[in-house]
Formats: sequence, structure tokens, C-alpha cells
Amino acid sequence: MEITNVSEYEAIAKEKLPKMVYDYYASGAEDQWTLKENRNAFSRILFRPRVLVDVSNIDVTTSVLGFKISMPIMIAPTAMLKMAHPEGECATARAASAAGTIMTLSSWGTSSVEEVAATGPGIRFFQLYVFKDRNVVTQLVRRAERSGFKAIALTVDTPRLGRRESDIKNRFVLPPHLTLKNFEGLDLGQMERTADSGLASYVASQVDRSLNWKDVKWLQTITQLPILVKGVLTAEDAKIAIQAGAAGIIVSNHGARQLDYVPATITALEEVVQAVRGQIPVFVDGGVRRGTDVFKALALGATGVFIGRPVVFSLAADGEAGVRKVLQMLRDEFELTMVLSGCRTLKEITRHHIKTEWDPPRLAPSQGKDMEHLFHERHCMFVRVRPKAASN
Ligand code: FNR
Repeated sequence: MEITNVSEYEAIAKEKLPKMVYDYYASGAEDQWTLKENRNAFSRILFRPRVLVDVSNIDVTTSVLGFKISMPIMIAPTAMLKMAHPEGECATARAASAAGTIMTLSSWGTSSVEEVAATGPGIRFFQLYVFKDRNVVTQLVRRAERSGFKAIALTVDTPRLGRRESDIKNRFVLPPHLTLKNFEGLDLGQMERTADSGLASYVASQVDRSLNWKDVKWLQTITQLPILVKGVLTAEDAKIAIQAGAAGIIVSNHGARQLDYVPATITALEEVVQAVRGQIPVFVDGGVRRGTDVFKALALGATGVFIGRPVVFSLAADGEAGVRKVLQMLRDEFELTMVLSGCRTLKEITRHHIKTEWDPPRLAPSQGKDMEHLFHERHCMFVRVRPKAASN
């Protein structure tokens, strides 16, 4: 069957992968309300396209932290990609590089920073989980730096792992032929099988729950790399992130895998953008499956988006070629959305090109007058009628 959109890869991956692996990739936390909402919220944002704009030339290139990339669509960090495909993270890195965009490697990759770097040139970020043992963190960050990674995406929403019930039921554990490669030499590469999720237990024993804003400053003492704070959902935290020296913010709910009943990220994005006031770039991930989603995120003020599961599922279905195809399809759809909305460059995408459910009703000037008149009449009628009614 010919694949014509990103979401179609999920069914193929489901068929191909062992249940434990597919469930780990697909699931969200608890009731999975946020998981559905990450998608549903996009569908409630509508377009206000402009017509008769000369759209014979479209430019989707952009710049992220000073790095020129081919499109505002990047790859989010997802753990343990060799469970999806034997070439895992390396195939993903090659696909990103071929598409001219950025890949973020997870701390919990089944390939190391050095292995990913050895796939060839490419702009890459390294996602960091802060372990209790800060020597481990320092060594890892230095290795990422030496391997040519260009930024650290510091994940801040995971002091404990969210409760993913299928992982508990499946007694999820990293298959024995694989390791968390970045930690192999540090004796932290294995995951014990436990009576619930092996990953949840691993996080509980290794990840530093005391992590706080001071550590963002500490991180800047051990690395020159810019730090993106990944997992911010509020204006309050966005402001603190700037004070703490963040180079950017990723509005993320971890693909709905941490705290259930947080809003869809596309709904939280605008409050963060407004709080940040253009001081640093704001990115978003969660539920991006269409070029139209990318456009909506940019219209709400994002500099770019990251995608998680589409990469995992396409990798499982078709390796590097699958990931390349996902990036190409999203790019094509995004370009088409720009054409049909009358936008030629990313700068031309504005808040006026979309309509959200939290916007006040928008009235055309003449219609506005009519409505005002109508409202006035109704209001006066109400005022006029009431004394009469009272006298009856
Ligand atoms: C993730 N995510 C994630 N985030 C992170 O900071 N470090 C990690 O190791 C992982 N691992 C991971 C594994 C899997 C299977 C998924 C689905 C997600 C979260 C990820 O970076 C991103 O925030 C979401 O995946 C974005 O949502 P979508 O695109 O999957 O809907």
C-alpha cells in the first residue's frame, strides 16, 4: 500500500513490532487524555487563508540557534530506537541530515553520541536527563560536545517517569541484546526487569529528582553549548527559564507520557510565546502529524516544531527510508499549506492566518457596526421592557 501521510506508519509499526515495544512507543500516561488532546487541539484551530498572493516561490528554510536548516521541522529525542530498527538512532541521524534538518539524540539512545556523530555531517542536539551522579552528567555532556553536538535539550518534566499502564502490564524492559549505549561504560547501560515498568524503576533509581532551576545555571558552568529547556508549559516557567540563561524553550508535555490532563502543547504554546516576548526562540512538540499542524504552530509564534512518534513508527516500518519519507511528506504538506494560505516565507505566517477557540469573535468592520447596533437595540429593549413587565 502506498503511504500518503505520516499517521499511516503507525499501523504498520504496530503489526511489525513486538507488543511490548509498540506499546512503549505509542502510549501516554494514565487515562491518555492528553495523548488524544495533543491531536484534537490541532483540529480545533482553523485557517484564515489569504488569496491572490503570488505564491510561485516558497521558502521554508529557517535558522535555529544560528544554524540554517531546510525547514522548521526537527526530530525530537526518543529513547531506545534500536527496538524499532537495527540501525536505530544512526538511521534516524542519516535521514535528518539528508533532509537538512536537526536530530535530537536521547540520553537513552541505544546508540552512543560517538556512533551517531560517526554517521557523517549533520546538525545535532543532545537531550539530557540529569542523573544523581553528576560526574556521569559532566562526562556525558563533554562527550556530546566533543562529538560535535550543537545544543543540549535539558528535559525538565521527568523527575519520575509518568505512569504508563501498558508498560506496567508488559513489565517493559530493554531487550537484553541492547544497552543504553551512552551509559554502557558507566555501568548504567542495563535495565533490570522489575515487577512493573523496568524503565520507571531505572528512572526512580538514577534520575535526580532534586533537579531545579539552579541546576540550569550549573549546567552552564560545565558546557558552552546553548541549553534548550524542554518541557515548559506555563508563562511562569518560561520567564524563569530566560532568567536561568536558557537559549530556547521547547513547549512539550513529553508526548503526553508524563502528567496526564496537562493541556495539549499547541494550546499552551501561545502563553509561553507571549511571556517570552521574543527574547529567545520557542519551539513546540506533541501531536504534530500534518503540515497544517506545523503552520498552526508557527502562526502561534513557534520558531519550529519537533516530531517524536512519526519518526519512531516510520523507522520501524521502513528504516532510514521511512524517516526520510516522513520528513519529506511533512515538508511537502507544510509548503502546500503555505501556498494555499498565501504565505511565501515563514515570516509571512502570522497570527491572523489562524483562528483559535480562545480568540474573541472576529467581526468585519461593517458587520461589527451592525452587531453593535443589534446589541444596543436588544439591550435597550431589555431595559425598556423590564419596567413594563414589572408594572404588570
Ligand atoms: C519520548 N520523548 C522523550 N523525551 C525526552 O526528552 N527524552 C527521551 O528519551 C524521550 N523518549 C521518548 C520515547 C518515546 C517512545 C516517545 C513517544 C517520546 C518525548 C519526545 O521527545 C517528544 O516530546 C514527544 O514524542 C512529542 O510528541 P509526539 O510527536 O510523539 O506526539
